[in-house]
Amino acid sequence: MINPSYPIGVFDSGVGGLSVLREIRALMPGEDIIYFGDQVHVPYGPRSLKQIQDFSEGITRYLLTQNSKIVVVACNTASAAALTYLRQTFPEMQFVGMEPAVKPAAEKTLTRKVGVLATPATFQGALYASVVERFANGVELFQNTCSGLVQQIEMGNLNGEETRTILEDALHPMLEKNIDTVVLGCTHYPFVIPLIEKIVGEKVRVIDPAPAVARQVKRLLEARGMTNQNSGELHFVTSGEVDSVKAILKVLLGIDGEVYPVRWKNDREIQ
Ligand code: DGL
Repeated sequence: MINPSYPIGVFDSGVGGLSVLREIRALMPGEDIIYFGDQVHVPYGPRSLKQIQDFSEGITRYLLTQNSKIVVVACNTASAAALTYLRQTFPEMQFVGMEPAVKPAAEKTLTRKVGVLATPATFQGALYASVVERFANGVELFQNTCSGLVQQIEMGNLNGEETRTILEDALHPMLEKNIDTVVLGCTHYPFVIPLIEKIVGEKVRVIDPAPAVARQVKRLLEARGMTNQNSGELHFVTSGEVDSVKAILKVLLGIDGEVYPVRWKNDREIQ
């Protein structure tokens, strides 16, 4: 029996999912959240679909041992590669995943030219193809994987030279094609929105799907009478280095949170 006071489970390949956690927290401050960052395996973007499914399954099993009442796959790459697999593997558990925000972008664009920033595995996934087919309706999409950007953000480099160069190389060609909207298809990328906005200027809309994902989590919990006004405890675990995750938590969310280590027994199971 799932108890409403149980936590919301959230995971990502690294710190990207914190952009979703902060929206969930803003919307439901009384909910306890357990956050898993798989830093030992980040980035997921260049990895195989099978590897990402294995990691996602192992993390979900861990979150279930922590009594998660819902699991948020706060990772576009894992959502693209593993969301269907997770729903089949854990039919009792409710999952909320990420979906590149092509639909709102297509509805809002005036130039009908939209830039999409995501990882290779997200672009290669069936989910992205389906979203484009269902919602792009004639809008021209310009894609870029922003290679290396996830790693820069994992190091807390939100506006250094390397980060700026990666974003300028991705966005300048799109601006020349007259885009008026940029979709952030990777949960790491909202942390560099200030730099993106400097590059694209105020005439270009930047869409972060995290608030919509938080609203979906709230809807699902309310529908099942599973919301809770707890102490709003945040519990962070990482498969990587605790000290570096603690430091990045401060940089990204401005919080001094405790971070606990977990270790993979193999690439499928957390001990
Ligand atoms: N933050 C994740 C995403 O939304 C994954 C990035 C990565 O590990 O490559 O795709």
